[in-house]
Amino acid sequence: MRRRCTDHLPEDVPRALDETLQDLQLDYVDLYLMHWPVSMKKGSVGFKHENLTQTDIPSTWKAMEALYDSGKARAIGVSNFSSKKLGDLLEIARVPPAVNQVECHPVWQQPKLHAFCKAKGVHLSGYAPLGSPGSTAAINNEILKNPILLTVAEKLGKTSAQVALRWGVQMGHSVLPKSTNEARIKENHDVLDWSIPDDLFAKLSEIEQERLIKGTVFVHETLGDYKTIEELWDGEL
Ligand code: A2P
Repeated sequence: MRRRCTDHLPEDVPRALDETLQDLQLDYVDLYLMHWPVSMKKGSVGFKHENLTQTDIPSTWKAMEALYDSGKARAIGVSNFSSKKLGDLLEIARVPPAVNQVECHPVWQQPKLHAFCKAKGVHLSGYAPLGSPGSTAAINNEILKNPILLTVAEKLGKTSAQVALRWGVQMGHSVLPKSTNEARIKENHDVLDWSIPDDLFAKLSEIEQERLIKGTVFVHETLGDYKTIEELWDGEL
């Protein structure tokens, strides 16, 4: 469960979770994530430049820790944090983040972040593991049509979606594919009883890398915290 960026003020964090629990008719969530290292103005709607405001990650995290203490969130974590931002948070956290949920797929493999999360005991969870086909992020780079991915898929008799997901499983992170189609949901599940052999796995590391979800909407010269994309991702581009 990821919460809106409009609810990062310490007093808003517990209210936001209470609203979510009410919506879901639950007493607790297994995992509660800070969605972006970015804050939007309270009550504003949508990720738009004019809604950006200052973020204070340590004070948001303190409020998240209180939710963990209360048992309403069994685990707490972050999403879209660079190695630097995750490291800074680990320095001050009483309860370390259990998870960093980030864009991760064969076209955006994030080896540095992967190694950092592993070393620090933070589970990396990959969103958009298929590169979000059909979304604006995928307009110029449809990863399921990537020639290297397609070659590996053909050699294994699998679909490129299955190879993308199996790559994540073999890397040791969790993958969160979305589908509303029964056949594709089944296809996406069928990645656990076979593996990509070493030579083909190595081929996948030759794929040209590109971050598809860049977060440009969170970058502004005067509004919010980040003047450039480099600042948002601390150079991990
Ligand atoms: P659909 O719901 O019609 O299956 P991501 O998880 O990377 O954000 O991607 C989600 C998108 O990928 C959805 O639009 C979904 O469409 C599509 N999708 C899910 N599984 C597959 C698959 N196995 N092959 C092709 N497209 C898929």
